[in-house]
Amino acid sequence: MADKARVAVMVSSEGTNLQALIDAQKSGLLEKGEIVLVISNREDAYALERARKEGIETCVINAKANGREAFEEECKKIIDARNIDLIVLAGFLMILSKDFVNYYDHKIINIHPALIPSFCGDGFYGLKPHIAALERGVKVTGATVHFVNEIADGGEIIAQKAVSVEEGDTPETLQRRVMEQAEWLILPVAVAKLCRKIVKERS
Ligand code: GRF
Repeated sequence: MADKARVAVMVSSEGTNLQALIDAQKSGLLEKGEIVLVISNREDAYALERARKEGIETCVINAKANGREAFEEECKKIIDARNIDLIVLAGFLMILSKDFVNYYDHKIINIHPALIPSFCGDGFYGLKPHIAALERGVKVTGATVHFVNEIADGGEIIAQKAVSVEEGDTPETLQRRVMEQAEWLILPVAVAKLCRKIVKERS
């Protein structure tokens, strides 16, 4: 069995970034990585359906009912029992605690729908970065893959891709373009690169 980095993806919503990772795995782009687990804090996340279709193990931990601390304890148990090498936050809408991100130091990455340090930090999720970009009148926005630390969107930047803002853009049309032309491209490439590095360093 070829040595591959074991990847867990944490999701909360549509799962289009997870789908990009699944497609990258199927096309061979992920080469040294294998998505072995998808965790969601919401049982209605369509991302779970995408994982199930591919036979990827899924797990729903209801953070609302049990609170963040219990959610994170359960996540640690599941993640550590499966020897996960890399955790990818893909449309994951919870803020993780300092303890949790420090416990997995430099093992968690996130995709943010703006060019950090613009339009990021507390409260900038979903459409909000795109609303802010349009309000500010920027001509270019994009997406960023970064390591997760205790500061929201504050970790070391891994990859970025710029996307033009078009005349007449709405937050929705801009979000779609950023996903299609940036997020779904740079996230799989970044995961593939990190998985190669993980496998190389332990060989
Ligand atoms: C998207 O706005 C994406 O930019 C952000 O989370 C939202 C949902 O992503 N990361 P997904 O479709 O669930 O991957």
